Amino acid sequence: LEQKITVRVATPDDKHFAETITNEMEESAKARGTGIAKRSPQYIEKKMDEGKAVIAHTPDGTWVGFCYVEAWEHGKYVANSGLIVAPAFRKSGVATEIKRTVFELSRRMYPDAKIFGLTTGLAVMKINSDLGYEPVTYSELTNDEEFWKGCQSCVNFDILTSKGRKNCLCTAMLYDPVEKAKQAPAPLPKINGQRVHVAGEHHRRQFANNFSLFDRWVRFKQFVLLKNWRKKLGDSQDKGILGLLFFW
Ligand SMILES: CC(C)(COP(=O)(O)OP(=O)(O)OC[C@H]1O[C@@H](n2cnc3c(N)ncnc32)[C@H](O)[C@@H]1OP(=O)(O)O)[C@@H](O)C(=O)NCCC(=O)NCCS
Repeated sequence: LEQKITVRVATPDDKHFAETITNEMEESAKARGTGIAKRSPQYIEKKMDEGKAVIAHTPDGTWVGFCYVEAWEHGKYVANSGLIVAPAFRKSGVATEIKRTVFELSRRMYPDAKIFGLTTGLAVMKINSDLGYEPVTYSELTNDEEFWKGCQSCVNFDILTSKGRKNCLCTAMLYDPVEKAKQAPAPLPKINGQRVHVAGEHHRRQFANNFSLFDRWVRFKQFVLLKNWRKKLGDSQDKGILGLLFFW
């Protein structure tokens, strides 16, 4: 079914969508069985008031998707969070378009900010990677207590705490405008009319495109974290090396 979907910055007129959005966030988190920071309809409405949200809808006003901008440490860091697409509209590029729009909005509002996200979802990792984000350790993210408080409502919060906030099941990805500015303007050097391989560039691209490897790495990481966690709880279901091989 071909449907025209509008993706745009949300306004206060979109507040009637707020409850639908938070309900779907909760339902999706339950369905996936993964953790997520819970948000109230009031919080969503505030984001719409501030012009820090992106909404997707059909021409007849059916809600399709949402995402918002959060700033930390006075705009030094920005997160594009709460990405959600209504189940009926998934897998047709809506999330890609929403993330592109919210990314551009963030770049406009906070041109010097490092833009980051925490996610367990492969779709989000793919989208972020295409936008120029790279995987990082949690030490590269904001230290702002308010940001990390958002994790308290996640089912995996105990894991995050036990790891001293250095690691958890989510993969952290970050877009650094300073690093990007260094990479972008360099024209391709030519020697005798041939394109020259630039050290580092190929490696980066290969990683961005090789999602089966990325996926396996993420699952491996989650396996190790969960295994350690189960051990801590005294669970004897340790699958050891066999489980490790399975995940790799
Ligand atoms: C994650 C979510 C936003 C993706 O929305 P979507 O509109 O289906 O995503 P897109 O169609 O733009 O897909 C983007 C890419 O991810 C891939 N993808 C989509 N869903 C996927 C899935 N469940 N598993 C793996 N890859 C997936 C697509 O194939 C596409 O890859 P491509 O560019 O190589 O073709 C949506 O499934 C959702 O709302 N899930 C529940 C909430 C959630 O997980 N939010 C993220 C919290 S961080």
